[in-house]
Amino acid sequence: MKSISYILIFFSLELKKVFCLLNKAEYFSIRTEIINEMGLIEINNFISPNRVLCIVKCLDRKECNQLYFNRETQKCILFSGFSTKNNLVTKQSALLAKVFTQNSSSECIKETEYWSIKMNSCLPCPVTFKRYSLNSFSCYHMSQNDMKFFEAKSYCEEKSAFLPRPKTSNERELIRYLSNNTKTWVDSFIDSLGEVYKWGDGTNVTGFKNGQPGNEGDNSSRLNQNVLIISDLCFFDIEYWKTFKTICQIF
Ligand SMILES: *[C@@H]1O[C@H](CO)[C@@H](O)[C@H](O)[C@H]1NC(C)=O
Ligand SMILES: *[C@@H]1O[C@H](CO)[C@@H](O)[C@H](O)[C@H]1NC(C)=O
Ligand SMILES: *[C@@H]1O[C@H](CO)[C@@H](O)[C@H](O)[C@H]1NC(C)=O
Ligand SMILES: *[C@@H]1O[C@H](CO)[C@@H](O)[C@H](O)[C@H]1NC(C)=O
Repeated sequence: MKSISYILIFFSLELKKVFCLLNKAEYFSIRTEIINEMGLIEINNFISPNRVLCIVKCLDRKECNQLYFNRETQKCILFSGFSTKNNLVTKQSALLAKVFTQNSSSECIKETEYWSIKMNSCLPCPVTFKRYSLNSFSCYHMSQNDMKFFEAKSYCEEKSAFLPRPKTSNERELIRYLSNNTKTWVDSFIDSLGEVYKWGDGTNVTGFKNGQPGNEGDNSSRLNQNVLIISDLCFFDIEYWKTFKTICQIF
């Protein structure tokens, strides 16, 4: 099995065509990266002669975040919430996500401003934070020194920020760029063996490197590795007392 991040990138390449097809949508575009795993809540379900109509219906409904279309059965399902239900995606069917895009008039010009989805406007980044073109919806800050996990977490929290939650491939690319492809803390830890890694916002972490989290260490019946880093676009569990680069994020 290929690693998840590879699959995500593959999907986004494969479905780029759809993006072009739909550019006419004024305020939205369909992004095919799988965003997170809040779970899908079905809001409508009907037979659509083609995928475009299915997408248009989703664009029409504010609460629609994701859609599923199957060419064979012509089934169109609209969902709120996001999911990484890869099992829904086959040759005949696709799961697409709707995300806000900036329109030209609302684009933040300064690198010290970001597009707040919540406020629907450009907001200033905090001092020492910067916005990067790979993710217009956040600002990032980099520490001078390497830190242990919980130091890094507090460091960001003191800045009213948090450790990165790079759910999309663009955000992972950005972290790779910012960290110069070195290991970097991300916003997830567990307290007990076998617990599921979740982001600080409560959603499941997906995109682990194959075989991870592995809890490597001298004693597999003890929690040896309880925090996550990102390295080369994939997540790993690791010991909290190691020291790495710290990046903080706000949105
Ligand atoms: C796009 O720009 C217009 C004009 O400034 C604004 O009214 C509208 O809210 C913007 N839409 C989005 C999604 O930012
Ligand atoms: C999160 O992961 C757990 C364990 O794998 C799973 O039971 C749960 O359904 C997942 N949550 C969502 C929203 O997918
Ligand atoms: C980034 O990493 C490369 C390869 O390890 C290294 O040669 C380069 O100096 C690093 N750049 C910075 C700004 O740290
Ligand atoms: C492994 O860890 C468990 C739980 O902490 C402990 O009970 C056990 O004695 C340890 N085994 C070894 C070989 O250290």
